[in-house]
Amino acid sequence: MAKIYGSITELVGRTPLLEIKNYEKKHELKAKILVKLEYYNPNQSVKDRIALAMVEDAEKRGLLKPGYTIVETTSGNTGIGLAAIAATKGYPFRVYIQDQVSRERYQVIKAFGGETIKLSEEPAIAKVLEETGGDFVAAIKALKEEVLSKEKNIFFVDQTSNPANPAVHEATTGPEIWEDTDGQVDIFVANVGTGGTVSGVGKYLKEKNSDIKIVAIQPGAGSLPSEENPEPEEITGVHPFEGVPAERVPATMDLHIYDEKFEVEATEAYRAAREVAKTDGILIGTSSGAAIHAATELAKRPENEGKTIVAVLPDTGLRYLTTNLFNDEFSV
Ligand SMILES: Cc1ncc(COP(=O)(O)O)c(C=O)c1O
Repeated sequence: MAKIYGSITELVGRTPLLEIKNYEKKHELKAKILVKLEYYNPNQSVKDRIALAMVEDAEKRGLLKPGYTIVETTSGNTGIGLAAIAATKGYPFRVYIQDQVSRERYQVIKAFGGETIKLSEEPAIAKVLEETGGDFVAAIKALKEEVLSKEKNIFFVDQTSNPANPAVHEATTGPEIWEDTDGQVDIFVANVGTGGTVSGVGKYLKEKNSDIKIVAIQPGAGSLPSEENPEPEEITGVHPFEGVPAERVPATMDLHIYDEKFEVEATEAYRAAREVAKTDGILIGTSSGAAIHAATELAKRPENEGKTIVAVLPDTGLRYLTTNLFNDEFSV
C-alpha cells in the first residue's frame, strides 16, 4: 500500500530509541543506555514537537488566525521548528534570537522565509539586557510588554510559558518511550531548557510507574557565564533551574517532577558527543552529549546495575559545526 505524507506536520514525533551498544561496551557499563534520537524529526530537533503543538493549540483557541504573524524568541531549535511549521501552514514568522546563537540557525530560519532579529538590535530589549547582565527571561518580558503589545495580528508563542509545550511531551514523547521499552524503563534523563521535556515526559512516566527515577540536567558552574569567565563553553538551550531566582525558571518547568538534578559541564558533553559519534555513528548536539554523559555516570553507579536508562538527545550535531563541539583543535 502506498504511504505518502501530505505535510511535514505528519512527520513530527515517533522518533526511534537506540541502545548505544558499542559505547556501553567500551565503558563496560552494566546498565543499558537507550537514546531517543530527536534528530529524526523533520527539522532535526525535539522542538518540532512543541512547534507543531503550540501552533495547533493556538489555532484551536482562536489566538492564531490566517494573516497573523507567528513570533517567538529562542536559542534556535524552536525557531527552526516554528519557521518550518509557519511556512507549511502559510503564516509569516519572526524570531528574536540571542546574539551568540550559531550561524547555521539564522540561515535555516531565513531559508524557511522567516525573519530574524537579534535581541540586542531592539533598543528596549538591549537596555534590559544591559541592566540585568543578559537576563533572557527579563528580555522576553520586555519584548512582550514594550514591543509586541503595541502590534496587532500577531501570535507570540512563548515556549517558556506555553502549556502546550510540556503537554505535547506528556501526550507523545512519554508514551513513545513507555511503548518502545514495553514499560521497562528505570531512569529517565533529560536536559532542562524550558523544562517542557522533563516535565511532560516525567509526568507521564511517573503516572505509569512512580518508581521511575527522573533526572534533570543543568549546566555546571564552569559552563555558565561568570565574572572570571564571561564567555565559557556553554550547553546550548540548557539553563539552570536550581540556585537561580524563581523568576528565571520558566513556567513550563515543573520543579517537583525530578528526583535528581545532575550537573554537566560543556566539556564533558563535548567528550561524550565526540565519543558516541565514533562508537555508534550518531552525530548529536551539545545537550545530547550532556544527556549521554549524565546517563553514563548514572550507569556506573552500583545500585543501577541491570537497569535501563532512557536519555533524550534533543538535536543533530550538524547544527554545531561552527562551534567547538567538533573542533579537533579544542581539546576536552
Ligand atoms: C539543543 C537543546 N537541548 C535541550 C533543550 C531543552 O529542552 P526543554 O526546553 O524541553 O527543556 C533545548 C531547548 O530549550 C535545546 O534547544
